[in-house]
Amino acid sequence: GGVGRTQEKPVLTVAIEPVFAPFEFRSPNGEIQGFDVDLIRAVGEAAGFGVEFRNITFDGIIPSLQAGTVDAAVAAMTITEARSKAVSFSRPYFKAGLAIAVRKGTQGIKTLDDLKGKTIAVQIGTTGAKTAQAIPGAKIRTFDAAVLALQELKNGKVDAVIQDSPVTLYAIKTGNLEGIEVVGQLLTEEFYGIPLPLNSPNLSRVNRGLTTILQNGTYAQIYQKWFNA
Ligand code: ARG
Repeated sequence: GGVGRTQEKPVLTVAIEPVFAPFEFRSPNGEIQGFDVDLIRAVGEAAGFGVEFRNITFDGIIPSLQAGTVDAAVAAMTITEARSKAVSFSRPYFKAGLAIAVRKGTQGIKTLDDLKGKTIAVQIGTTGAKTAQAIPGAKIRTFDAAVLALQELKNGKVDAVIQDSPVTLYAIKTGNLEGIEVVGQLLTEEFYGIPLPLNSPNLSRVNRGLTTILQNGTYAQIYQKWFNA
């Protein structure tokens, strides 16, 4: 048997895109870490399954779940009606929202309305991209990774970025992106879920594990570790 696999513990193959700090990203020595990483491992521990990560770009995650080449994903993925037709989501595990980011000192951009006709960078396939695409006259530049969108903003190539507020705030806080700030109110209220193939037999197990760690304090510990709250 495999190392660390006592008894017949199932191992779920979990898709991840480790460039979305603090949810999933690499440590300086290359290990995958983050809130979602600790979360799914704790869920597995609570519900009796092991986890093996597989790197997949964000916009490839739902197709991979549909094809059945992975069993689940942790991707700070917002539960939406459209996605729920293609995959089955666990119960929500995190509340987030979209925020507008600009270069410090930018005048006149605070709301979605202010972004009409502006150039906006987003990560492909995200709720941020969808929101940006609905802005009249906006020119959208799409990137494979959220950090590339923020770099484009930092380099002065776009007027704004729309993406998940916790990710932009973390990038600013950890100092990789001086000169960028979040402005205005959150644009949306969104809840992250763990997507699995439609009607996956693993869904109830994942939900059971989530419920356990929400109740036994493990979730609160993981939250504290990554968000210092
Ligand atoms: N929450 C947003 C969405 O579901 C962004 C997620 C991006 N996740 C990632 N791992 N890059 O569309």
